[in-house]
Amino acid sequence: MEEMDKKTRNEAIDELTLALIYLTRFSDGEGNRYDEIAWKNYDFDAIDRLDEENLIVNPKRKRGGGYKYAYMTEKGRRKAREILHQWNIEDDEIYEKFEFRSIRPEEAKEAAEIERICFPPNEACSEKHMTERISVAPDLFYVAIEKETGKMAGFLNGIATDEMVFRDEFFTDASLHNPKGRNIMLLGLDVLPEFRKIGLAREIVWNYCRREEEKERKRLVLTSNEKKVKMYRKFGFRDLGESASEWGGEKWHEMDIFLNW
Ligand SMILES: CC(C)(COP(=O)(O)OP(=O)(O)OC[C@H]1O[C@@H](n2cnc3c(N)ncnc32)[C@H](O)[C@@H]1OP(=O)(O)O)[C@@H](O)C(=O)NCCC(=O)NCCS
Repeated sequence: MEEMDKKTRNEAIDELTLALIYLTRFSDGEGNRYDEIAWKNYDFDAIDRLDEENLIVNPKRKRGGGYKYAYMTEKGRRKAREILHQWNIEDDEIYEKFEFRSIRPEEAKEAAEIERICFPPNEACSEKHMTERISVAPDLFYVAIEKETGKMAGFLNGIATDEMVFRDEFFTDASLHNPKGRNIMLLGLDVLPEFRKIGLAREIVWNYCRREEEKERKRLVLTSNEKKVKMYRKFGFRDLGESASEWGGEKWHEMDIFLNW
């Protein structure tokens, strides 16, 4: 039998601390809800090492003294999930059922079909535009895949830019994507009807926020119809009022969320 290298004590302390932070994290219901917090009264050196590896964010006060909580980064969550898997520990139900990741080029057709189901024809992104978007910015798609079937259940996508205001050309012209852009213009949030109301959209949006925060992006911008404004506000977005967008001949609200400022 192949023998695994023994972990050092520090490696084990770090892994177990990270797993405990993950398992005990919670939303405090204040500010940007996508940043859940966890109490961090564990071994100080382990907390420092996890912070150095960008697995957690350990906020410090300018004049010394610390906060009692830490945030988990998206990288930290991924690592924690791997640790739970190795230890055969049950994860959150949504992570037991779904895998979250960037899109693959061969999934363009599936994404376009989901878009067709989720949006009326005057608003849906065509397969041609979806394919173009995926070819330039696959890392700005975030998909949820049902583990049992391999089926895509939903996704969020956008393109990066230094522009501040949403304009409809972002929907149709993938060449506007600037990989180093500080802002992301979000172009669509879709969850298939059979996977709705179990928190998938929320998980996709929050994971997306943390992932882009780690890439030093500044702001996510989107347009929402009147009915979905409340939902995006729950996700932490601000309503900026009427947007210049006339997409699909409809009226839209412009909304945004700050990631780094
Ligand atoms: C809107 C959509 C993405 C929601 O997906 P979902 O996975 O069912 O949403 P979640 O389960 O994560 O719900 C998160 C929160 O948003 C709220 N919400 C979900 N769908 C909503 C809707 N259609 N209208 C208003 N609020 C809604 C939920 O009540 C929930 O809040 P709660 O936790 O306080 O109950 C999905 O219904 C969809 O794809 N619709 C068609 C496309 C669309 O409208 N996209 C968004 C506009 S770009």
